[in-house]
Amino acid sequence: TRTPVNVTVTGAAGQIGYALLFRIASGHLLGADVPVKLRLLEIPQGMKAAEGTAMELDDCAFPLLKGIDIFDDPNKGFEGANVALLVGARPRTAGMERGDLLSANGGIFKPQGAAINAHAADDIKVLVVGNPANTNALIAQAAAPDVPAERFTAMTRLDHNRAISQLAKKTGADVTDIKRLTIWGNHSATQYPDVFHAEIAGKNAAEVVNDELWLADTFIPTVAKRGAAIIDARGASSAASAANAAIDHVHTWVNGTAAGDWTSMGIPSDGSYGVPEGIISSFPVTTKDGKYEIVQGLDINEFSRARIDASVAELVEERDAVRELGLL
Ligand code: NAI
Repeated sequence: TRTPVNVTVTGAAGQIGYALLFRIASGHLLGADVPVKLRLLEIPQGMKAAEGTAMELDDCAFPLLKGIDIFDDPNKGFEGANVALLVGARPRTAGMERGDLLSANGGIFKPQGAAINAHAADDIKVLVVGNPANTNALIAQAAAPDVPAERFTAMTRLDHNRAISQLAKKTGADVTDIKRLTIWGNHSATQYPDVFHAEIAGKNAAEVVNDELWLADTFIPTVAKRGAAIIDARGASSAASAANAAIDHVHTWVNGTAAGDWTSMGIPSDGSYGVPEGIISSFPVTTKDGKYEIVQGLDINEFSRARIDASVAELVEERDAVRELGLL
């Protein structure tokens, strides 16, 4: 029998947590043969609700779920963690300046990074979902100097999945026919969903679409502003789809991309494609044996270059702002 994998989830009592935990426990995160132990991390005000969620997890009698522990101390929550999903974050409230948002999140992600550094398992893999996800991942990474930097990743898989779905609707293709789509840059309104290297049933997606105006004026804004459209329609932010994307991100990281395809992950830049080294930006990546590699050698046209550069510039500004706040 396999040793259970320890999965720490922060913000466990929140709406993404509620959509996420049951799928982790039923084997969708790591595989249908991998037992898991859940470590739920909340703030004191969230402990009671997290206990309620844990009761429901018990009530599912999931064969793969070998334990649930709940903590409000990051040092305990990350103890022995093999996978950490950092979902809990401080949302932007009306009138909040970017500096206030970044410093409030620094107060969460810096101590969590330090706790990961001190207590997580050697093979720890971290996915940051809580926004601003890329920069929160950078803050946590900077606080964990003993953990290889590449283990800190940020989620752009929801944007990736949204883009696939929009492209499928436009072209009448099945989502499974769409490969090699890329989200570049920040998980924010500046993100760039790139179809120029994507394929639809083996044909170049940009050629199949053959409508640059639709790309510029409909597709890109629809993907980038989908979060706001969901809030508008549902009266609450994306939760099940965000949880689904977190499952996809980690599952792909651990289990590999399919031959001939790639995915999008926010990862520390190695300088590829002119993205400054060190910032956590979304790239096209292939994964194998728990490791990822940036897809190299893609030809970046002018349309793409301008949009990648704009999103990367925003990430550089965020990095500079958290550096000034002493968070790096
Ligand atoms: P929510 O407000 O329902 O839940 C957040 C939970 O985090 C709360 O239970 C809160 O008590 C907890 N929390 C706050 N600070 C914490 C800390 N220091 N340690 C542990 N837990 C803490 O929010 P929801 O809807 O679950 O969203 C969570 C985050 O995910 C938000 O920042 C949201 O913007 C982000 N998000 C990111 C997406 C992406 O694509 N990267 C997509 C959708 C949401």
